[in-house]
Amino acid sequence: AVERTLSIIKPDATRRNLTGRINAKFEEAGLRIIAQKRIQMTPAQAGTFYAVHKERPFYGELCDFMASAPVVVQVLEGESAIAKNREVMGATNPADAAAGTIRAEFAESVGENSVHGSDAPETAAVEIAYFFSGLELVG
Ligand code: CMP
Repeated sequence: AVERTLSIIKPDATRRNLTGRINAKFEEAGLRIIAQKRIQMTPAQAGTFYAVHKERPFYGELCDFMASAPVVVQVLEGESAIAKNREVMGATNPADAAAGTIRAEFAESVGENSVHGSDAPETAAVEIAYFFSGLELVG
C-alpha cells in the first residue's frame, strides 16, 4: 500500500551540510518528499516528540542533541514507505548498518545517527501530525 512516514534529518547531518545527499538517497529509493521544512526545536519540543523514550537513560541527551541545531522534518510517501525508509536509513547503530545505507555512510554514533524515521503506521500518523498540518502535505 502507499504509505506516508515522518523523517527527520538530525542536527549532526544538517551541521555537516548533508541534507541534499540524504534526500537523494530517499528519492533514489522511490520515496517522494511531499512535505519538508527546516526548523529548530527547543529541548521541550524534542522531548514531546520522543515522549515514548522518556524512561530511557539517554532521553535527556537525546532531547538536548535534537535541539542543538536545525533539523529538516519531512514526509516521505511511497509504496511501503515506512519499511522502505527504514531500509534506506539502516540500523540505528551505524556500526550495525548495512553498506550503502544513510547511517552507514553518514552517522557518527548511535545517538548522532543522522536520521529518524517512523517505525509503524500508527506512529507515522502521530509524528506527521506533530509537525505538519494536512494542508502542508502535497502528494
Ligand atoms: P531514533 O530513530 O530517532 O529514535 C530514538 C533515538 O534514540 C534513536 O534514533 C537514537 O538516535 C537514540 N538512541 C538510541 N539508543 C541510544 C543510546 N544508547 N544512546 C544515545 N542515543 C540513543
